[in-house]
Amino acid sequence: MARLKPELVVVNGQIATPAKSEAVSGQDMNRLTVIAEGWVACASGIIIGVGTMAECADAVDVSPDTTVINAAGKVVLPGLVDSHTHLVFGGSREQEFYLRAQGVDYMDIMAAGGGILSSVRATRAASLDELVDSGLQRLGWMLSQGVTTVECKSGYGLDLETEIKQLRAVQILSQRHPIELVPTFLGAHAWPPEYRGREEEYVDAIIVEMLPEIARRGLAEYCDVFCEASVFSVDQTRRIMQRAQELGFKLRLHADEMTGLGGAELAGELRAASADHLLQVSDRGIDALRTGGVMPVLLPATAFVLKKRYTPARKMISAGLPVALATDFNPGSAPVPSMLLVMSLACLYMGLTPEEAINAATINAAASLDRADRIGSLAVGKQADLAIFAVSHYRHIPYFVGADLVETVIKRGQVVYQKPQEKGDGDVTRFDSQSVSS
Ligand code: NIG
Ligand code: FE
Repeated sequence: MARLKPELVVVNGQIATPAKSEAVSGQDMNRLTVIAEGWVACASGIIIGVGTMAECADAVDVSPDTTVINAAGKVVLPGLVDSHTHLVFGGSREQEFYLRAQGVDYMDIMAAGGGILSSVRATRAASLDELVDSGLQRLGWMLSQGVTTVECKSGYGLDLETEIKQLRAVQILSQRHPIELVPTFLGAHAWPPEYRGREEEYVDAIIVEMLPEIARRGLAEYCDVFCEASVFSVDQTRRIMQRAQELGFKLRLHADEMTGLGGAELAGELRAASADHLLQVSDRGIDALRTGGVMPVLLPATAFVLKKRYTPARKMISAGLPVALATDFNPGSAPVPSMLLVMSLACLYMGLTPEEAINAATINAAASLDRADRIGSLAVGKQADLAIFAVSHYRHIPYFVGADLVETVIKRGQVVYQKPQEKGDGDVTRFDSQSVSS
């Protein structure tokens, strides 16, 4: 067999990866392929080989031009995939965070004109440059957690101009930052104040005006709706989603988050790509997700921050469903950019095993974004997106809660993040957005 000539090769690491390039469910969620000491070779942004160190010398040809990363005593995973974020927003809402810490309810803050509407005011007031700048900082946080793909929703504009501004910011961010972004239109996130008392007209505006214009400009791949009591009803959500589907959008849905409205049932009926949150999902809802082939995306950081009950993940996995994990990063219910913390919370409070948490944060998250053939596992032919962790076993990753474990991140075969030296001289080598902009 011809020897591989990689541009970059990671050697000596524990390689842990989902076994398949498609969503894994039920018992399979508890399995990973693990090579105790292995290598991953990359060329032209693609994985060209994976193997054990015993066969490395025979299989891989290393030249002076090859970048060799020694991962001895470290763990190599596929880059993590954050499949639900509200990355782009103006302002911040720390006052609400501390009010909620004192016991005030999230939906009561929203009903009083705060919550999402407070971020809508700040996002409308923000310039495109400001949204891009804050987005770059937040993507930096995510990259240093081993994340290489992030879904980003609009939804803090609630008018066409600002929704477009947010999605333009996502477009610019994906050119300026190595993390790959997946844009979602969430115009149906709250009722705009100017439509008070005539909410049905806002649903019409989304259907008649906003969705077609977002589609025409090619600004979003998915459409999402916040289906919730006092926000978008099941019927209003269905109308918006059906129109979105006709226009070629794929569907995600904020479902059964605070109230068990039947969002999961609707997601199943529409065969949405994902139904997210599901804190209050019913047994019928779980059935509907399975029959509709919908990926449940679980967001334990939101339950953690809002001090709510967690999604019944074990029940879903026992029912034979796959599950994905995501941060829900947003200025209100989850100011949490860390997929690693999410994996720890998933193990601690939803009873996931570390193997399930890793599958949920990689291949299943990728499958929910329709990208399981390209990312989410370490397999020949897939994009070379890798994260290297400074721990000796993958089971240490959710276990060292909140630790700064990520040492190196590789996106499309390029090193895009290297942790600064522990005892360095302050010469920080983090990714610099300027260096790849142009
Ligand atoms: O997913 N639930 C609706 N949207 C977000 C919260 C957004 C916010 O509080 O700004 C969520 O939790
Ligand atoms: Fe959300």
